Amino acid sequence: MSNIILIGFMGSGKTTFGKWLAGSWNMGFCDTDELIEAKEDRTINDIFSKKGEEYFRDLETEMIKALIDERVDRVPQNMGLTESAVISVGGGLPVRPVNRELMHRLGICVYLRTSKEELVRRLQSDTTRPLLAGGRLEEKISSLMAARRDIYESVADLILDTDNMSFEAMADTVKRTLAQRKL
Ligand code: S3P
Repeated sequence: MSNIILIGFMGSGKTTFGKWLAGSWNMGFCDTDELIEAKEDRTINDIFSKKGEEYFRDLETEMIKALIDERVDRVPQNMGLTESAVISVGGGLPVRPVNRELMHRLGICVYLRTSKEELVRRLQSDTTRPLLAGGRLEEKISSLMAARRDIYESVADLILDTDNMSFEAMADTVKRTLAQRKL
């Protein structure tokens, strides 16, 4: 089976759903943010504040290449990607065109689309995302969303509107799509 790559805005549930899906389908799971934090041995907040966003974006590109190459020496936890896996990628990773091309080589891209209202609700007390720190959360989400919506939609092989969808229903839709496309 193809790898399943979960994309979407911060707070769209990529990691939570990804872990659940991998568990119920008995697949491997990895999350580029977690892999980067483990490799760098520091938090994303720390990477952004000490090294800046561009440095983090370079790490994301390097990580997605490492996953394609199954270069486990460069992937801190040996993910065993010889088996297909569910891979959750950071919300900003699809913004770089090169990453979009790499994601398509890595697997099928599933966009977890979530309404702004739901994102605001989920991210209200979050302190782990540097791009949302300070200022008005709703405005930050709106402007990042406006810049990214078309990118997410264009890269997606499948879009799931997650606001009122159960994990079971989401998984069924993914399964049907994979079967239709013989992936
Ligand atoms: C980011 C999303 C985060 C993380 C970093 C930047 C973004 O990942 O990579 O804070 O630019 O949208 P999640 O989408 O998993 O929160």
